[in-house]
Amino acid sequence: MLSTSLPGGTWTMGDLTVTRFGYGAMQLAGPWVMGPPADHDGALAVLRAAVEHGITHIDTSEAYGPHVTNQLIREALHPYPDSLHIVTKVGANRDQQGGWPPARDPESLRRSVHENLETLGLDVLDLVNLRLGDAAGPQPGSVAEAFETLAVLQQQGLIRHLGVSNALPEQVVEAQAIAPIVCVQNMYNLAHRQDDELIDALAEQGVAYVPFFPLGGFSPLQSSVLSTVAARLAAAPMSVALAWLLRRSPNILLIPGTSSVAHLHENIAGAALPLSGDDLAELDKIGR
Ligand SMILES: NC(=O)c1ccc[n+]([C@@H]2O[C@H](COP(=O)([O-])OP(=O)(O)OC[C@H]3O[C@@H](n4cnc5c(N)ncnc54)[C@H](OP(=O)(O)O)[C@@H]3O)[C@@H](O)[C@H]2O)c1
Repeated sequence: MLSTSLPGGTWTMGDLTVTRFGYGAMQLAGPWVMGPPADHDGALAVLRAAVEHGITHIDTSEAYGPHVTNQLIREALHPYPDSLHIVTKVGANRDQQGGWPPARDPESLRRSVHENLETLGLDVLDLVNLRLGDAAGPQPGSVAEAFETLAVLQQQGLIRHLGVSNALPEQVVEAQAIAPIVCVQNMYNLAHRQDDELIDALAEQGVAYVPFFPLGGFSPLQSSVLSTVAARLAAAPMSVALAWLLRRSPNILLIPGTSSVAHLHENIAGAALPLSGDDLAELDKIGR
């Protein structure tokens, strides 16, 4: 292991202690998260480098590829170190056009949990997020039937902990009335601050908030303020964006995605960037 002192330290979700600096595996699949990667060995190298750096939280989904990122994780890292926790998602399928149609009926959810167990080579999934909404973002509606289905699978011993993703605050509350949740995984970054109140509320409850698209996802974060602050600090804008997230709230866990070992190294180093009060105040204006 190269380092056990990743920026941000650790956070505990239920009985899972993970590094706040994690890794999101979605970018390892082919273009638009369909099919295998162009560079299979390169993808394995990124996963192994993440674990060598001490990362203990990898985010994935059976829908990435589909099947591709789970299979890569298994090929690169199985048998898994005890410290490593793989977090997966259920609730969406892929169609021929690369779309993400919801699949939250009980039968689809049960099938997806079993597929995740199979492709990851696990007997129990550490943490499963129920993906809600659709590709356009969170959508209103009851989560009860779907979340109750996952709660039963948890009681059967197939899942240790539950979370929700792409969720509205009222859906988080509805899910929590059915079973405890240890994390919420929603879109959030310097420029998309819609979940500010939710993050603070979850922090008070000790529930993790895991922003997806922390670097902007398929459209890299662009902001003149971000560029100005980054230039002043002689740092990459991506570094500033990650360092800001770690400072935003102690319950924020990072899962930046990359298909490049060099970017992985850059992001780990960058997230440790010290930000002054003035830097934070300036950055805070971007998404407000
Ligand atoms: N729950 C959900 O519905 C949902 C939705 C989307 C994503 N996710 C999860 O969230 C994770 C993170 O999201 P994401 O990967 O889509 O978006 P992201 O982390 O915001 O950005 C990834 C993009 O940034 C680039 N990048 C990374 N580091 C860089 C660097 N140092 N310099 C320049 N470019 C850099 C990557 O390209 P390179 O490959 O070239 O580095 C990639 O194109 C995913 O891996 C997935 O696990 C969840």
